[in-house]
Amino acid sequence: MQTRTVLWIEGDGIGPEVWAGARPVLDAAVEKAYGGERKLEWKELLAGKKAFEATGEYLPQETMDALRGGDLAMKGPLETPVGGGYRSLNVTLRQVLDLYACIRPVRYFQGIQSPVKHPEKVDMVVFRENTEDVYAGIEWASGSDEAKRVISFLRDEMGAAVDASAGVGVKPITPGGSKRLVRKALQYAVERDRSSVTLSHKGNIMKFTEGAFRAWGYEVAADEFADKVMTEQEANEGGSKPIVIKDRIADALFQQVLMYPEQYDVIATTNLNGDYISDALAAQVGGLGLAPGVNMSDEIAFFEATHGTAPTIAGKDLANPGSLILSGAMLLEHIGWDEAAKLIHASVEKVLSGGRVTVDLAGQIEGAEQVGCKEFGQLIGENL
Ligand code: NAI
Repeated sequence: MQTRTVLWIEGDGIGPEVWAGARPVLDAAVEKAYGGERKLEWKELLAGKKAFEATGEYLPQETMDALRGGDLAMKGPLETPVGGGYRSLNVTLRQVLDLYACIRPVRYFQGIQSPVKHPEKVDMVVFRENTEDVYAGIEWASGSDEAKRVISFLRDEMGAAVDASAGVGVKPITPGGSKRLVRKALQYAVERDRSSVTLSHKGNIMKFTEGAFRAWGYEVAADEFADKVMTEQEANEGGSKPIVIKDRIADALFQQVLMYPEQYDVIATTNLNGDYISDALAAQVGGLGLAPGVNMSDEIAFFEATHGTAPTIAGKDLANPGSLILSGAMLLEHIGWDEAAKLIHASVEKVLSGGRVTVDLAGQIEGAEQVGCKEFGQLIGENL
């Protein structure tokens, strides 16, 4: 029998409920697809409140050591402890494990109300760089000594006209950081038979950061994927490689994905652009509450529910376990257990079209009947 170990973190708030709904579905899908030949082995790691109660630490050393040695992990949402010495547990995990690629697939499930006419044309995967850009946390408040020093350097030594009262932030974008992200997106496109990778950037304005990201992206494609990937121009000239690499200015891409969603497939982009486009696309298919995601380094793939701990509904059997279930399906695809992932997608589709759904989805499906978190998970399990 083939087993794969998944390190899992239950998470805070609705974490225990959504896991109780999700894990049986994942195990059942594997069982159904492979009849006992393959199995997921679950190893729990403590983090968040549960860890604090047991060990006095929100992210115990043992958890970090296990994650450093692992290759597959999944987590529920983690509450950021107030005054615990952390900016955020999620950010800490991303930084310590160097989870540089945030990957969000966006697809439509029949039956869900969407703000657009043809949500079924949306089938995209966003690769967002997770460690650089204005999110690097390098900024100084307006009027602070630090800001004044930076501004006087910029004015006196660099000849930049910066107002003395400005708050100042830094936007680092490196060749290494950009290339490893675009490489991951291209590898994914090759492995999953995707037709295009679009580099989204604001290089028309920010030439040496966003524009450089674009240039480095094309460089990786030419240097490392020349047998599989061609530019748009090469495609127009009759080229016949399976994947097209193209680029779009970020604001134009927001228009394009609304008007011509069928022309976009994998999107690779910098941190801030990626943050915006991931949520905008999820809204386009009406599925913010169902959106799965993964943060990856070269060593570990860390799948997660993209929502938070939803404290106001925690413990009330109201949460939707769908995001965690679909993240689990992503994990199965990631390890090549596609048959099990397909069973999950088909079952979710069937259950949604049956209209017995959790409260958040009930508002988005005409004539829907509300069921609890537990029952919704069971329905997905039964319809595999
Ligand atoms: P949230 O995602 O927890 O809640 C936003 C809204 O969506 C609420 O109305 C909530 O009830 C609803 N909601 C979220 N997940 C749901 C689900 N599975 N089923 C049904 N309804 C759901 O975001 P919020 O309120 O901004 O954050 C709450 C806490 O979660 C904070 O401590 C925050 O730091 C943390 N958080 C953790 C994340 C993570 O671990 N990846 C991501 C986002 C927030």
